Amino acid sequence: MNLNINNLQKYYEGQPVLNIENLTIQAGSLLGIIGPNGAGKSTLIKTIAGLIKASSGSIYYDNNKFSSKIQKHMTLVFQKPYLLRSTVFNNIAYPLKIRNVERKEIEKRVIEVMDFIGIESLKNQKAWTLSGGEAQKVALARAIVIKPSLLLLDEPTANIDPNSILVMEEAIKKFHKENNSTVIIITHNLGQSKRLCKEVAFMNKGKIIEIEKTDRLFNSPKHSTTKKFIEGEIII
Ligand SMILES: Nc1ncnc2c1ncn2[C@@H]1O[C@H](COP(=O)(O)OP(=O)(O)OP(=O)(O)O)[C@@H](O)[C@H]1O
Ligand SMILES: [Mg+2]
Repeated sequence: MNLNINNLQKYYEGQPVLNIENLTIQAGSLLGIIGPNGAGKSTLIKTIAGLIKASSGSIYYDNNKFSSKIQKHMTLVFQKPYLLRSTVFNNIAYPLKIRNVERKEIEKRVIEVMDFIGIESLKNQKAWTLSGGEAQKVALARAIVIKPSLLLLDEPTANIDPNSILVMEEAIKKFHKENNSTVIIITHNLGQSKRLCKEVAFMNKGKIIEIEKTDRLFNSPKHSTTKKFIEGEIII
């Protein structure tokens, strides 16, 4: 899915938290978004997902405005996963059920995705008994099982151990490669954005300061705030 964002602004109580002049994300992109706390990263992807209404500006999805049809082809994975009060299997199967996918096909796809992410052993476990990291893995599995054209990930590996992070990254890469979907991933793990993303955007104070090919952004950032951020200096 192509995304075209123009003059997108969001204010909370008169305070600007988002101000994106122009951002085009081509179909098939794997874009990372990095930036300090409060930069507006989550606000941006929640606005793209249609969960927050912008104060002004526009977002076009393959040249269309937001609609329930567009919404069916996208998924947002929150940092804090919301799971149904049911088993892991039912949680992952749910988005397929509501799309009227046949039972046999559901079974096949759920098993496949659980295998992919390494959570087969959790199949019958109740969602509320999962650890934080396990719940994040289930949330990722539930998101990719419907093969969305647009996958939005808000710090999907924030509570994950280092080895499982690599497993989840492989799953995201494989999903991206096989479906040529657009993937946007917010991460505080700079190594992760280097491993995973073709392009990275640096956000600060509601703005996209720069968006570049990953190597370029990390090796020769154009802006001093980007340089400070990636070198771990305090940005004022
Ligand atoms: N509902 C709200 N009411 C008022 N202010 C809000 C609201 N939601 C977000 N904000 C503010 O908007 C700014 C951007 O928040 P956002 O969650 O997008 O940041 P972020 O870049 O995702 O940060 P983090 O890295 O900490 O997740 C923050 O200063 C936040 O306090
Ligand atoms: Mg956030």
